[in-house]
Amino acid sequence: MTELMRTVALTKRYHANDEEVAALRGVDLAVERGEFVAIMGPSGCGKSTLLHLLGGLDIPTSGEIHFDGRRVDGLGEAAWAVLRRRQIGYMFQSFNLIANLSVADNIELPALMAGHSSREARRRRELLTRQLGIEAQAVMPPGRISGGQQQRVALARALINEPALLIADEPTGNLDSHSTRDVLGILRGANERGQTVVLVTHDPNVASRADRVLRMRDGLIVGESRLEGRTPSSDLLQALVTVED
Ligand SMILES: Nc1ncnc2c1ncn2[C@@H]1O[C@H](COP(=O)(O)OP(=O)(O)OP(=O)(O)O)[C@@H](O)[C@H]1O
Ligand SMILES: [Mg+2]
Repeated sequence: MTELMRTVALTKRYHANDEEVAALRGVDLAVERGEFVAIMGPSGCGKSTLLHLLGGLDIPTSGEIHFDGRRVDGLGEAAWAVLRRRQIGYMFQSFNLIANLSVADNIELPALMAGHSSREARRRRELLTRQLGIEAQAVMPPGRISGGQQQRVALARALINEPALLIADEPTGNLDSHSTRDVLGILRGANERGQTVVLVTHDPNVASRADRVLRMRDGLIVGESRLEGRTPSSDLLQALVTVED
């Protein structure tokens, strides 16, 4: 496999109310093309911060980010927007859906912005909403559907351009076990078609589908387990759960 993304000594410090928070304290992460990576760790350890930097949604304090053989940490907002439109699908922890657009329009928008015809955007949206069980919500505004449905809309929007890299922050956080299975099926399908997946999850069952599980604590990656396609033992699942203490 070849490398798709790499960070070198990535740090992020936030300044809030005269206090400095070291959200990331030197993260070295390499992701192979086609890999499925899950990131776990307690609340506040820096998981969303890391994903934001990988998606170009925030600027690192120091360190490097390389994507597809090219250094990208110095790119401006417009260049990152192009990358996110063409190569990186981003699903936010807080969904960030557009309130005054319907579910269907929210999902189709990135496809239209990438230059697909409205017919193609609609075809892709219908396929995704069917797979995710949110077809009936297509005409509704995001404010009138449940949190779990909004989450699936956010995932469909991130996937519609078939990005080389899908970054997803807690894609199953609000879902019941049935919807979690639908979402996992979509993620694995995307991964089997060659798309690289990097996600954050608190759910050991979701993490157990990954090739590699990274554990974060206090702004650092402190451990990793490789699952290599085998069915995880109950011991391993237990070990993943205890990471969340
Ligand atoms: N915009 C911000 N301004 C100031 N501090 C921030 C900001 N975003 C995050 N932080 C702080 O950075 C640290 C890491 O936050 P982050 O959101 O990355 O954690 P997380 O691991 O995603 O947590 P959770 O599991 O609760 O989503 C926390 O201490 C948080 O309070
Ligand atoms: Mg988070």
